[in-house]
Amino acid sequence: MTVRPGDIDSAAIDRAVGVLHGGGLVAFPTETVYGLGANAADGAAVARVFQAKGRPPSHPLIVHLAGAEQLGDWVAHVPAHARLLAERFWPGPLTLVLRRGGRVSLETTGGLETVAVRVPAHPVALALLSAFGGGIAAPSANRFGSVSPTTAGHVRAELDGAVDVVLDGGPCSVGVESTIVDATGEALSILRPGGVTREDLEAALGRPLAVPATSHIRVPGQHPSHYAPRARVVLVEPDKVIAEAERAQGSGHQVGVLLPPAFADAEVKAHAVVELPASMPAYARELYAFLRELDQRGCDLIVASPPAERGLGAAIANRLRRAAGPRPAM
Ligand code: TXA
Ligand code: MG
Repeated sequence: MTVRPGDIDSAAIDRAVGVLHGGGLVAFPTETVYGLGANAADGAAVARVFQAKGRPPSHPLIVHLAGAEQLGDWVAHVPAHARLLAERFWPGPLTLVLRRGGRVSLETTGGLETVAVRVPAHPVALALLSAFGGGIAAPSANRFGSVSPTTAGHVRAELDGAVDVVLDGGPCSVGVESTIVDATGEALSILRPGGVTREDLEAALGRPLAVPATSHIRVPGQHPSHYAPRARVVLVEPDKVIAEAERAQGSGHQVGVLLPPAFADAEVKAHAVVELPASMPAYARELYAFLRELDQRGCDLIVASPPAERGLGAAIANRLRRAAGPRPAM
């Protein structure tokens, strides 16, 4: 069942809360992407999330809360730097990894001693979380490895039948997932770049953060691609995008192009061309919809160039690199 934007009133929220209490699954909008939610304290409900997504149980989920005042129920200890970030960025696209408390189901944390928590900035998510009162474990509402959903239509296209209720809150405003910060130790680090920029985190903390290379593939061929459309994604330098697209189209591919704004007026001999917006927030908001569109238009190969890793560009570049996956072994 889908509840449309105009119909999300307190009765619709109450029905969704009933589904969560009954061990069911509720897809809901957040400012980043749509989440596939279950009661984080109910191991059997959380197991249904993994099943619906086709996700290996060792990949932990984020616990969503209505406010930072609920943190004490889910984590063992809130270090001062984590409290500072929560106060500055919640509700918002920031996830904190902390030592877990007793209430989290081990299904949620994938057996880890840490738990990821966040307070999303979307009125529907906050209404659902407040009415529910507990934590909602929610990964992005897509099949494992594929492109995250930024509209309710995207959720239905992939997970219809596996979800009890889809709350349609319209298109997501940020469009890439939350930034994940490991706040378990003294040295904070970014585990996944996302909607809160590194620059903003460092300004709030007054010190630099470590940035592990999340796109680094240690065992070639072992890591499936992630955030990936059906079409293969090929990344090149910005000034090589057109030449690479035309070469691949000439050799028989149906090529989709994410065309950097500097080349907007160029004629490109390719199957489908998306002219990228110049602003990073607009690019982030549309990125996943662009990838889905190129799939739908029948492309089997997408040529793109990762933007500079500043601000939201870091999150976009990370998703494109993950979508491109490991290079084939030589
Ligand atoms: O914006 C978002 O974060 C969205 C919305 C729905 O909130 N959620 C999301 O969830 O992107 P998901 O499951 O697609 O990605 C969660 C990531 C995974 O890469 C997972 O490995 C990591 O969070 N994660 C969860 N718990 C963790 C933990 N205890 N330690 C390290 N990483 C963790
Ligand atoms: Mg995901």
